[in-house]
Amino acid sequence: MSDEKKVSNAEASEFFYPSDEIVSNAHIKDYDSVYKRSIEDPEGFWAEEAEKLEWFRKWDKVFDDSNAPFYKWFVGGKINIVHNAVDRHLKTWRRNKIAMIWEGEPGDVKVMSYHALNREICKTANVLKSMGVNKGDIVTIYMPQIPELAITMLACVKIGAAHSVVYGGFSVEALADRIASANSRVLVTADGGWRRGKVTDLKSIANEAMDRSPTIEVCITVKRTGHDVHMENDRDFWYHDLMALPIASPRCATEVMDAEDMLFILFTSGTTGKPKGLVHTHGGYQVFTATSHKYVFDIKDEDRWWCAADPGWITGHSYLVYSPLVNGSTIMMYEGAPNHPYPNRWWNMVEKYGITILYTSPTAIRGLMRFGDQWPRRHDLSSLRLLGSVGEPINPEAWRWYHKNIGADKCPIMDTWWQTETGGFMICPLPVTPLKPGSATKPFFGVQVGVIDEDGNEVAAGEEGKLVIKRPTPGMARTILGDPERYEDTYWKEYAEQGWYKAGDSARIDEDGYIWVIGRIDDVIKVSGYRLGTAEVESALVSYPDVSEAAAIALPHELKGNAIHVYCILKAGVKGDQKMANDIKKHVSSEIGPIAKPEEVHFLESLPKTRSGKIMRRVLKARALGIDEGDLSTLEE
Ligand code: WTA
Repeated sequence: MSDEKKVSNAEASEFFYPSDEIVSNAHIKDYDSVYKRSIEDPEGFWAEEAEKLEWFRKWDKVFDDSNAPFYKWFVGGKINIVHNAVDRHLKTWRRNKIAMIWEGEPGDVKVMSYHALNREICKTANVLKSMGVNKGDIVTIYMPQIPELAITMLACVKIGAAHSVVYGGFSVEALADRIASANSRVLVTADGGWRRGKVTDLKSIANEAMDRSPTIEVCITVKRTGHDVHMENDRDFWYHDLMALPIASPRCATEVMDAEDMLFILFTSGTTGKPKGLVHTHGGYQVFTATSHKYVFDIKDEDRWWCAADPGWITGHSYLVYSPLVNGSTIMMYEGAPNHPYPNRWWNMVEKYGITILYTSPTAIRGLMRFGDQWPRRHDLSSLRLLGSVGEPINPEAWRWYHKNIGADKCPIMDTWWQTETGGFMICPLPVTPLKPGSATKPFFGVQVGVIDEDGNEVAAGEEGKLVIKRPTPGMARTILGDPERYEDTYWKEYAEQGWYKAGDSARIDEDGYIWVIGRIDDVIKVSGYRLGTAEVESALVSYPDVSEAAAIALPHELKGNAIHVYCILKAGVKGDQKMANDIKKHVSSEIGPIAKPEEVHFLESLPKTRSGKIMRRVLKARALGIDEGDLSTLEE
């Protein structure tokens, strides 16, 4: 038998089949027929799903491609995601259902019904209104994982404003940049949050960022940690003070929005320049995320859903806050570190709250796996029926550990491939899909993917190529805020003729039609599942006084998936040493955030560049890995 044959047999024998119980209870029992239908008649399929939501006015047209690639969905429809996520549940028994269970790192707990959640949202919405927030404004939110984060997001949207959530792990420069790009007048933040037993000083970072942000007029601060913070007269208000005023009435009408009105922007790292603010909208996004959440995780009313992502990233937007609430689920949210005070923290919460579905990242799994099986073994995890993974490819070793030790060999793992740009799951199994560890399996309904070579032709089974999405889906971002041209150039231009979307990832499809996503092929780095751009890291590096030029690359890392390695050319006459290397690491961390901290700093005399002056990062990478440097014909010597 040839070696190749052996490999594919090994892959085939790796199938994990769902139990009869899972199959017989699943919303969708036959993937193939529903998938076929969704591709043959996508408009019919999506219209049927959209009808399960409440609309203020029904759409005139499901899909409009007259101005490609600026596609529109549910044109003419009037809706607001808050109406479907909260208001409509208040008319049913779900009014008294638990909407959110939240646990702070120190152990404090808050439990809120849909009724209580609605009151908090209304009060906050009225506070925002009193601060002059209008329909169409973009409010920047910079908070730890506390209930007020989700409440503020929903309050903005309720009154027709959009939000821009900046991940609480980002630092001064990153926050200031995002405030400026969103042109925000109002910032909502907190004094701090708890992480590994320590206070993260968000308000100081926010203050510094606001010093660089002339657009901010009002800053509302939630008191979480109670440590001393500086409050600026006339600009800074405590959230609890405002919530105690008569203006903060618990009744507030939900604004009627157009299906294509902006819901939120979320900045994400791209290949060049500043992070781009992707624009998501009310209609298509809620149809797509609610449908994918319901079918992929087989959501039932009795579920307790825990998406352990931070709301500051797209996973937290789509699958912690929005789609689970639209589906009327009970959501779990936790503030702090998974291993604080001990590595059983998560497993303890699964047991304590009876979590039925856990959705997290390979990095988190690898991080907890390292502490050993004894930690999950101390807990009764039998409430779990499904598991999920997102953010980066999951290595089969972590998959098997998760499946065996957390899922007791009975919980299927939904490995979901998607992006900030796609809004929701694009490649993922259903609970009934036979699984192969490390493969995100098949395209979701309405999604058509291809893996192609340099010339745009499909590669053979098992071969690696570029991943493209062959048709638009309702949840996709509509544009980049203020820069539609960049949206078109980045995603649609290369395959404009075919109308394909460029994902920026490489992948292969095996003989069984299973898709294996390999990783980014552009200058985006995934560190611990978090998305960063080489351009951002490089811009932070050259803002260090002694660095004149710099390049950043990703190299494999056992826990983080990838780690950032940087190469610096210093100004003439300056000599680099270990002390400076450490100082540069600290500098990057304080400019962007701890997630961007370089693993290693190297000093070089020159960087490999093309004749036109572009840094050839792939050459640096090949050299670091000791592999073939590939085609060097464009390298300037
Ligand atoms: C990577 C996160 C393999 C991929 C939702 C993608 C994955 C990028 C997976 C988007 C997965 C995400 N398997 N790779 N299941 N999920 N990725 O925008 O490289 O933060 O392009 O969205 O994460 O990252 P983003």
